[in-house]
Amino acid sequence: MVEDKRQLPRHIAIIMDGNGRWARQNGRRRIAGHRAGVTATRTVVETCADRGIDILTLFAFSSENWKRPPDEVTGLMSLFVEVLRNEVDSLHENGVRLNFIGDRDQLPRGLRLGLGEAEQKTIGNERMQLVLALAYGGRWDIVQAAQRVAVAVSKGELDANTVDEAALNKYMSLGGIPDPDLLIRTGGERRISNFLLWDIAYTELYFTDTLWPEFDSTDLDAALKFFADRERRYGKTGEQVAVRTEFSA
Ligand code: IPE
Ligand code: IPE
Ligand code: MG
Repeated sequence: MVEDKRQLPRHIAIIMDGNGRWARQNGRRRIAGHRAGVTATRTVVETCADRGIDILTLFAFSSENWKRPPDEVTGLMSLFVEVLRNEVDSLHENGVRLNFIGDRDQLPRGLRLGLGEAEQKTIGNERMQLVLALAYGGRWDIVQAAQRVAVAVSKGELDANTVDEAALNKYMSLGGIPDPDLLIRTGGERRISNFLLWDIAYTELYFTDTLWPEFDSTDLDAALKFFADRERRYGKTGEQVAVRTEFSA
């Protein structure tokens, strides 16, 4: 386990992939895989809070996942409503603040309302922030930010010449939140699948073959160890970064 808190990521993002394959391997229907995924999610949320992670962003449903068979989509939406109903009180008791990113308008009304209520209820919590990405796409996010910038410019609230990275960032879904330090993808694929595109410019990427329903605190600790061993250079040389570390130590 990584003991030095300075070596831990402040913000972890996870692409929770592999539920369908887990179900097939176990002779179950795909939705049973998603249910098993909820158990893994609970463990990971608890472990992250326990390890002192500040922000955890989970990719639960992408803009492109609407293209799945209707019964899987409906099953997933019902599952999200059920999970919210069952888990919000315990998250609240544990000091977790819940936020949601994604295209709210696309979600069924019941889920949209449940998410809004959970956000309101947990707004004052400070132990850990849990961000759920639902009906979310990295390109959708950049487009909605660009649209809102355009509106602000047309209303005269923003000068187009002052739109720089920091200005655009304020309009991104994770605007007020520091970029993820570590991105984990389970399920063996080594791609981003339209998750956070803007925000992961300098994020460390960790891929594991473990299917999401089987991912547990030992796997999380392996990812944290991987992260602790990285040297983050942000375009500088290794020597520059090493000197800075010595001075700030
Ligand atoms: C990830 O698991 C969960 C969602 C995308 C909702 P998958 O359902 O993509 O699982 P695989 O990739 O088919 O195994
Ligand atoms: C990414 O997984 C989306 C989520 C985990 C929510 P997918 O299973 O949809 O990704 P692809 O289709 O394999 O790229
Ligand atoms: Mg998948």
